[in-house]
Amino acid sequence: MVALLENPLRVGLQQDRVPEPQILIIFGASGDLTQRKLVPALYQMKRERRLPPEFTIVGVARREWSHDFFREHMREGVEEFGSGLGSELLWEEFARGLFYCPGDIDNPDSYQKLKAFLSELDQQRGTRGNRVFYLSVAPKFFAEAIEQLGKADMLPDPRKQRLVIEKPFGRDLSSAQALNKVVRNICDERQIYRIDHYLGKETVQNLMVFRFANAIFEPLWNRQFVDHVQITVAETVGLEGRAGYYETSGALRDMVQNHLMQLFCLTAMEPPNSLDADSIRNEKVKVLQATHLADLNDMGLSAVRGQYTNGWMKGEPVPGYRSEEGASPQSTTPTYAALKLYIDNWRWKGVPFYMRTGKRMPKKVSEIAIQFKEVPFLMFQSAARQANPNVLAMRIQPNEGISLRFEVKTPGNSLRTRTVDMDFRYDTAFGQPNTDAYSRLLVDCMLGDQTLFTRGDEVEASWRLLTPLLEVWDAPAPPEVIPLYEAGTWGPVEAELLLNRDGRNWRRL
Ligand code: BG6
Repeated sequence: MVALLENPLRVGLQQDRVPEPQILIIFGASGDLTQRKLVPALYQMKRERRLPPEFTIVGVARREWSHDFFREHMREGVEEFGSGLGSELLWEEFARGLFYCPGDIDNPDSYQKLKAFLSELDQQRGTRGNRVFYLSVAPKFFAEAIEQLGKADMLPDPRKQRLVIEKPFGRDLSSAQALNKVVRNICDERQIYRIDHYLGKETVQNLMVFRFANAIFEPLWNRQFVDHVQITVAETVGLEGRAGYYETSGALRDMVQNHLMQLFCLTAMEPPNSLDADSIRNEKVKVLQATHLADLNDMGLSAVRGQYTNGWMKGEPVPGYRSEEGASPQSTTPTYAALKLYIDNWRWKGVPFYMRTGKRMPKKVSEIAIQFKEVPFLMFQSAARQANPNVLAMRIQPNEGISLRFEVKTPGNSLRTRTVDMDFRYDTAFGQPNTDAYSRLLVDCMLGDQTLFTRGDEVEASWRLLTPLLEVWDAPAPPEVIPLYEAGTWGPVEAELLLNRDGRNWRRL
C-alpha cells in the first residue's frame, strides 16, 4: 500500500496546488446555487490563497443585472452563507474579478456577446483563454446550452476549456445516453466534469484511503467475513420549496442514482491500480456493471418507496408531502427509497447491500455500516443473550468519524460480555472537517483533475442498474400505491420488512 501512495501516477486526491489564471462562467448565476454555494466556496478559496490573483467569475443569466448589482448580490451570499468577508480589502480584490453578462440560454447572439466579452477579459485580467463553463441551470437546458457553446466554438481546446454539469445527469438511462451524446459531439470526455457533491466530502474521499492505506481491513472486506452492508442517507429537511424539481425527480433520482451509488461504489469497488482518475473510475464502473437489484422478477423484494405525511419535527408540526407548496395533492413522488442490491463478483457474491434515503427522517445522518458475520459458536454469556456481530460504521456526516463495534468482558466475577465501540472522530483528531464539498470540486476542476467527477459510462451504468425499478415506480398509479410514513419517523413499515424478511434489521441511528 505504501507503494500505491508513492505512485508517481498519483494525480487525484492531491491538495494545495493553485490553478492557472482562468475565468469561471456560471450559467444560471441568478439562482440559489451561485449565491449560496459556489461564490461563498470560491471566496473561501480566495481567503485561503488557493486562487490565482487573475481568477475571474462571469455570471450569466436572463435578468438584466449590472456588474455592480451582481457583486453586491454575491457579497450578501458570502456574508450570509459563507464564512464571512475577512477583510474589506480582500473582498474588493475578489469583487474586481466578478462580472455579469445577461443572456438567454437559447439565443446564439448571447453566446457571441459572451465570447467577445470573455476575450476582452482575457486581455484585461490575463486569463489566457482558460475557461470553466459551469451549467447551474435547470437540467432541461443542459443540452441546449452545450449545443450553443459548441456552435459558438467556445470549447475548442480540451486543455483550456472545461464544462461542469450539475446533477441530475439525465432522468433515466435513455436520457442520460442522449445527453452524453450531445456532450461528446461538442467536446472530449477530458473536458467534462459531472458534479456529484458527495464526492467532494472529506469523509467520502477518506473511504478509499481507509480501505487501501490500511492492511487490516481489506482482508475482511468480502463475502467470507461480511454479512451485509447498510448505507443510510437520512435527512430531516422536507421539500424546501423545490416542488418544481422534486415532483419530477423523487428520492431515487435525487439521491440514490448519484450520491448513494457513489458511496456504494467506493465501498464495494476493487483497489484501483493507481490514483489517477481513470483507474478509479474504471473500478467504479466495473462494480456497477456487476450489480443488480435483489430480485428482478419482483421489485417488491428489491425496493420500497415511501412518502411522508404530516408529523412532528423537533416538537413542531410539519405538513405532509402532498400539502407542501407546489406538490400535487395526489402525488406519488417517493420521498423515501430503500433498496436491496447484490453484486455478482468473487468478492461480494451473495452479500446483500441495503441502502435507504429519505426526507423528514428523525435525524440527519449519513453512514456506511459493514456488518460482519457472527462468530460460529459463542461460549460466553452475552448481555444481549447473543453477541452482537462486529460492525464497522463510517460516519459521512454529521459527527464525522469511524467506529468499530466489538464485544468485551464486563468487569466482575462472571464471564459476561458487552458490546462497546472504538471510535475515531474527526473533530477530536483534526478539528471539524471542511464540509464544503464545492470548493474542493471547483478547485479540482480548474486543475483538470477528474477523479472526483462522474464519467459518462459511470452515470449510464448507474441508471442502467436502476432501470427495472424506475419502470415500475414511474408507471401511472393511484395515490394509494405509495406507502406512507409520518414525518419524523424512519420510513414506511414496508422498509422494515425488506430486512426482516432476511432476518436482519436496519441499524438504529
Ligand atoms: C442534493 C439533493 O443533491 O443533496 C437534495 O438534491 C439533498 O435533495 C442534498 O437535500 C443533500 O446534500 P447534503 O450534502 O446536505 O447531504
